[in-house]
Amino acid sequence: MDKIKWVFNEMPKSEDKYLPLMETERIREVKAFHESFPQYTVTPLARLDGMAKRLGLGGLFVKDESWRFGLNAFKVLGGSFAMARYIAGETGKRIADMTYDYMTGEQLLKDFGQATFFTATDGNHGRGVAWAARKLGQKAVVHMPKDTVQMRYDNVAREGATVTIDNLNYDDCVRVAAKEAAETEHGIVLQDTAWEGYEEAPSWIMQGYGTLILEAAEQLRALEVNRPSHVFVQAGVGCLAGAVVGFFANLFPTEPPKFIVMEAEKAACLYEGACRKDGKPAVVGGDLETIMAGLACGEPNIISWDILRNHADAFLACPDWASAKGMRMLAAPVKGDPAVTSGESGAVGMGVVNALMTDPDYAELKEKLGLDSYSNVLLISTEGDTDPVKYREIVWDGKNG
Ligand SMILES: Cc1ncc(COP(=O)(O)O)c(C=O)c1O
Repeated sequence: MDKIKWVFNEMPKSEDKYLPLMETERIREVKAFHESFPQYTVTPLARLDGMAKRLGLGGLFVKDESWRFGLNAFKVLGGSFAMARYIAGETGKRIADMTYDYMTGEQLLKDFGQATFFTATDGNHGRGVAWAARKLGQKAVVHMPKDTVQMRYDNVAREGATVTIDNLNYDDCVRVAAKEAAETEHGIVLQDTAWEGYEEAPSWIMQGYGTLILEAAEQLRALEVNRPSHVFVQAGVGCLAGAVVGFFANLFPTEPPKFIVMEAEKAACLYEGACRKDGKPAVVGGDLETIMAGLACGEPNIISWDILRNHADAFLACPDWASAKGMRMLAAPVKGDPAVTSGESGAVGMGVVNALMTDPDYAELKEKLGLDSYSNVLLISTEGDTDPVKYREIVWDGKNG
């Protein structure tokens, strides 16, 4: 069995110009925007006391995004906020004016008209963009990489988007979406990854994710955990990880939690960048094969990268078994703990924390991270069973060992 690989962050710091994007006050505005949606509810924070005790931790908390807007994943938070920010900019309005009622009413079409939002996705982001576009009377065009499963395709198509599965990997689909947007009148690319010259929309998407993180911080506080000691966050392009780390780094500037960023080992571009130690982002190519479809991205979001290189503590490259194990543990936790339906890209944190706390091979990593019976660990289960067939193969039939 492959081992989890890790590297501690020894990169030189940058001027940290993107950190203010995730200031608490700004994220409060984002959350107020999402709160105006009739679909909005705070997603659960599962408190796994039995599991924490078993693993030798003080507390273990899992933010369960399978309940987000009925879409089974957190991603809609980013696409919807970015769309609202874009429209606010075009119409000279403030984000506070972008309520759900305004955005879904006749007035929006008079003020803004109709645009086409282009994006590439493994499934969850595109579904969120397509959902938001439909609600707002806008158009969406979605490109999906080869090997996309039918269910994920159907979920996007059901929202009325024009969707294709291309014979390309994720990063090449991003390029196709950007090219088509440039060639289309009133065409806008809405991508969760940033590159030189394309930074505005990804920064809004990152802020959009802030809603779930602010919720989690408030839920922890209600449980009298003022500050998590460790935050484990999974990464594809790293937009979510940048948001999570940026948010907590702003909230706890003097004593931040320890941040551990986890990627699928075949798509571990952030890990690769950290190994090089020069602070520059690295790219990983090829088929990016992993069961963690949402993490199969080989080119980092440069905004998130900048936040992570300044604030993340460690980067981990994780084999598929870690995620499969995490899915099973969350589905069948210690008696008395709530179960969490967590998909392949959602559960890797649980598998990793279990390995660190129980496998002597990771004793050094556990020790260096200071994980012990005083630790309060926060994990984010970013999706539910978005591929129900694979979910059952893994959780019920024991696939991926
Ligand atoms: C379920 C899930 N979790 C995590 C991620 C990773 O997010 P990011 O690409 O921002 O790193 C994704 C991305 O699509 C996802 O769909």
